[in-house]
Amino acid sequence: MNDEPDAAPLAEQAERQSGSSAPFYDGSSPGARVMAVANQKGGVGKTTTAVNLGAALADLGHRVLIVDLDPQGNASTGLGIDPRNFDVSMYDVLLHDVALEDCIEATSIKNLFLAPSTLDLAGAEIELVPALSREYRLRRAISAAKEDFDYIFIDCPPSLGLITLNALSAATEVLVPIQCEYYALEGVSQLTRNVELVRSNLNPTLRVSTIVLTMYDARTKLADAVVAEVRSHFGEIVCNNVIPRTVRISEAPSFGEPITVHDPTSRGAIAYRELAKEVSGVAS
Ligand SMILES: Nc1ncnc2c1ncn2[C@@H]1O[C@H](COP(=O)(O)OP(=O)(O)OP(=O)(O)O)[C@@H](O)[C@H]1O
Ligand SMILES: [Mg+2]
Repeated sequence: MNDEPDAAPLAEQAERQSGSSAPFYDGSSPGARVMAVANQKGGVGKTTTAVNLGAALADLGHRVLIVDLDPQGNASTGLGIDPRNFDVSMYDVLLHDVALEDCIEATSIKNLFLAPSTLDLAGAEIELVPALSREYRLRRAISAAKEDFDYIFIDCPPSLGLITLNALSAATEVLVPIQCEYYALEGVSQLTRNVELVRSNLNPTLRVSTIVLTMYDARTKLADAVVAEVRSHFGEIVCNNVIPRTVRISEAPSFGEPITVHDPTSRGAIAYRELAKEVSGVAS
């Protein structure tokens, strides 16, 4: 049994694994834009953004897959899919070499698909430690399915362990949601440092391509201060469209629906649709 620490920060893991014999991803494969939705700070809108941006892109006609890589399974339940009803989940893809396509479920939204997570995934953080090519398991699984989709969003858990490392090794882009709140930038520099390490050691094409400001409340001066600070810090990778804090967005998951279905004319739905145009490069 390999007794290396299971949840060491990505920085250490990437450095340790730099001698890995697994081949570098050369970035040349055709197919989906693979975006890891990551921020180790909890509750910043990762899942909400993966689900709603994914749904809005699907509405634009893109084929979208959301990979739920969080044992909490919020992306799965937020899309009305109860992972308990399925025999295989992302746990089996990561640990038991099950093909990603065998775990993909259609959602009630045309063009939108989900690879569900179950609570088992919580154990994956530890079970992956002794596994062969443990940091490349997701990338391998995704590379076989990449041509079937235009976008693959990987909803990461709020940590920087092996599950997130798998997501960063599989992705070409990182989308970082930042909440317009106190301590918004807390942990973000650690995340960007880890992305740099993954890029130099495991996945040379990885970059933080997109920052989405979430839960913006126009009534507070603080929200504007956070927006200004994030824009001055990160520049043009910060999306122009900011997601407002709305009750409708927060209640949509309990109906198993993205906001674009739950209340298509609401401010939140409009914001995510505009964000989808921006991310996909369609002028709005
Ligand atoms: N724009 C918004 N307006 C109102 N509530 C929101 C908004 N975005 C997210 N929320 C709510 O905030 C909470 C946290 O959001 P979410 O689950 O998307 O964050 P997360 O980063 O995925 O969290 P975790 O780190 O636990 O995975 C949820 O209850 C969600 O419904
Ligand atoms: Mg989440």
